[in-house]
Amino acid sequence: MIRRMSNPPPAGSLHRHDARYESLADTPSAELARELLARVRAGEVVTTSDGDVDADVFGWLALDIERLFDVHANRLSPRHIMDVFGVYDFMATSLTPPPIEGKHVLELGCGSVNPIGRILLYVLLGAERGIAVDLDQPQSIESASRILANYIAWMLMDPYLLLGGRRDRVVTREDISRNIARANIDPGALWAGSPAIGDRLEFRRESASELSVGDGEIDICCSNSFFEHVPDVEACIAEQARVIKPGGYAIHNIDGTDHGWYESSGNQLDWLAHEPDAPMVNSCNRMRPLEYLPLFEQYGFEVLDTHTWREEQVDEAARERLVGRFRTLSLDALRHVGTVVYLRRR
Ligand SMILES: C[S@@+](CC[C@H](N)C(=O)[O-])C[C@H]1O[C@@H](n2cnc3c(N)ncnc32)[C@H](O)[C@@H]1O
Repeated sequence: MIRRMSNPPPAGSLHRHDARYESLADTPSAELARELLARVRAGEVVTTSDGDVDADVFGWLALDIERLFDVHANRLSPRHIMDVFGVYDFMATSLTPPPIEGKHVLELGCGSVNPIGRILLYVLLGAERGIAVDLDQPQSIESASRILANYIAWMLMDPYLLLGGRRDRVVTREDISRNIARANIDPGALWAGSPAIGDRLEFRRESASELSVGDGEIDICCSNSFFEHVPDVEACIAEQARVIKPGGYAIHNIDGTDHGWYESSGNQLDWLAHEPDAPMVNSCNRMRPLEYLPLFEQYGFEVLDTHTWREEQVDEAARERLVGRFRTLSLDALRHVGTVVYLRRR
């Protein structure tokens, strides 16, 4: 995984006199990209060092970057939405996915980069209402709006492009067009950078533990890489039990990997071997994904299925090294590090 990208620094913060930047060849491409993005946003884009206009190079760059970075870690890419929507839509299970037409969908911890993207997909597929919730403000309304216009264009180009391979949902371009119109979404205005998301989509800046949603209003509640960042897990589960209607679904992708190092090869037990009582370590509560299941059951959810995408080999000796309550967990609970949980409200 790649570190989350925050707003770029102001243009000019690439210090040419800093020894690290004497040669551009030695400058990490991520640093160059941040500087370039800052300059583009500042409007300083089209001139060469001779002052010539050279806009095509930026056009090529944009196309190549879009192609090269169609990867999961890019939260604005088709690949990302395809992966996450596939998870939400039961792709890794043998269960029938919940119907979407006319439903009320809530996404928790939607993030600040592309907050409405996933919930938009539900509305394009006929959901009556999509609410995305986060504590953080969107980082850039303009970029977040433009990416929604892209999603709409991709869905109109090929309705299956973003559906995570879910070809058993029957979706046509006409369906998408009709749902855009029904929701009063204005794709042209979105492309121009204004948040013309119509009247079925909403971003709410609030806590998942205190939602401004009425009792039993929600049919589908989903989240991606959210729960591990929550200190008050039980309060968030209790709140979901309140807002999800009986028979409604909850789908949560819980990433229990050590967020101290965003790479996939690290041992996932090391960070359970110190600071036994710290509520949060590396911005995470360190709860193992399977530990959430009894809590959900206690609050009236039935566990339909789980899908684990990251495991760690654990034996008795490895467990002995752990501290506090981690030592008392089952080997199975420790083994499941990244897991999607599929639940239904009783
Ligand atoms: C790792 S980010 C994941 C963002 C997004 N779901 C994604 O997959 O890119 C976790 C998000 O959860 C949000 N968050 C943490 N605690 C929250 C709470 N109590 N209520 C709502 N959002 C919360 C954070 O602000 C952050 O944007």
